[in-house]
Amino acid sequence: MPETNPAEAAPTLARLIDGKALAQHIRAEVGARAAALAARGTRPGLAVILVGDDPASAVYVRNKVRACAENGLHSVLEKYDAALPEAALLERIAALNADPAIHGILVQMPVPRHIDPHRVIEAIDAAKDVDGFSVRSAGELFAGLPGLRPATPWGCLKMIESTGVPLRGRHAVVIGRSNTVGKPMALLLLAASATVTVCHSATTDLKRHVREADIVVAAVGRRRTVTADMVKRGAVVIDVGTNHDEAGKLCGDVDFEPVRAALGPEGWISPVPGGVGPMTITMLLANTVQAAERRVPPAGA
Ligand code: GUN
Repeated sequence: MPETNPAEAAPTLARLIDGKALAQHIRAEVGARAAALAARGTRPGLAVILVGDDPASAVYVRNKVRACAENGLHSVLEKYDAALPEAALLERIAALNADPAIHGILVQMPVPRHIDPHRVIEAIDAAKDVDGFSVRSAGELFAGLPGLRPATPWGCLKMIESTGVPLRGRHAVVIGRSNTVGKPMALLLLAASATVTVCHSATTDLKRHVREADIVVAAVGRRRTVTADMVKRGAVVIDVGTNHDEAGKLCGDVDFEPVRAALGPEGWISPVPGGVGPMTITMLLANTVQAAERRVPPAGA
């Protein structure tokens, strides 16, 4: 048998959805919109509040603030001791609601146990709710009205769209039902005319559902939730998970290499790291610019 040159062999693995490259592309657009607003006297501004000393949260907020600086947005980072009373936090939020230089307010979750996250989220002016976590933002998504969409599922939608695979009439399976990812993801996919199934911890026979999926979004927080025997060839798989393997290495919810092989060359898969992660902050920037654009009268007005 003649030897085949591996460089010429037909690809057998699913294509990668490069979240980093897509994030850079979208950040350039967001940066241009921020510059256009700044030229008209409004620099989009984000306030990030961190209560307590959770190390992972500290990294996330630092990355958010840095992304603002890199893309022409103004930002303020307010850090408070874990013992900050809830009333004091609500007062800070009220002051930021009234601050015309701030267009987006984000309180990093989780907050310490003595603080009610729902009260905090609802205290943020809905027009500045760049996390899209408030009841009003959730209601706007539910009702198909324009509004601020939660960054992570919105980023996942952009990643799916980047593949060129049409969503209309396709079967999408969302694994996870959190308020921050699973539920809004299902609504975004529904708005794009996919047929949507939401699976969760009480779902019996997850494999039966995932095997039928043209699009899979895994947002569970448990590694190897999606394995090679569960996926359909040619499907699009988005991995929202951020977990660690035995060696302490960052990994998602999807058993990446075997699933990539099982999807075959017509399929698509997002890696961890380098997939959803960079997109989340990007869509937060997009929401902040959108919130600022709403505050500024249209050109010529
Ligand atoms: N904690 C983990 N992810 C997020 C997020 O997207 N927004 C906020 N506010 N807190 C988080």
